[in-house]
Amino acid sequence: MNVLIVNGPNLNLLGTREPEIYGRKTLRDLEREVGSHARKLRMRVRFFQSNHEGAIIDELHRSRRWADAIVINPAAFTHYSYAIRDALLAVALPAAEVHLTDVDNREGDFRKISVVRDVCVHRFTGAGIGSYLQALDAFAADRAARKKHR
Ligand code: DQA
Repeated sequence: MNVLIVNGPNLNLLGTREPEIYGRKTLRDLEREVGSHARKLRMRVRFFQSNHEGAIIDELHRSRRWADAIVINPAAFTHYSYAIRDALLAVALPAAEVHLTDVDNREGDFRKISVVRDVCVHRFTGAGIGSYLQALDAFAADRAARKKHR
């Protein structure tokens, strides 16, 4: 199973970006932990981070034949990018929305809004890097359920 892991704007600065909110782990740390969890689940992962909406959309398009599932933290784009929402629908792959923080219980009402939520099959928030691991676990469980029904 191939999984594309997409990280949106400002997540390249993890580790130094508002560490009291996002912690001290870097994007590299995140990729290492997610990569090693994926190996245990016998998944292949590809990581992509961009600060640009169009670049994220291009990557979703590019990976649509390679990937079996998508884990996406659209960061601030979560709250208003209909273009990323449409791209997730266009590639028609099962997607999991993930967030490091508990977006539903943070400052700023805008964070409670997710325009991708209803086009994703899973959603994990507030567990830091654990949110990404939970998304992989969910896709592994879906894979196991599919096998059982074959
Ligand atoms: C975030 C939450 C968003 O509201 C914020 O804009 C981010 C990161 C998270 O992972 O908690 O950049 O997606």
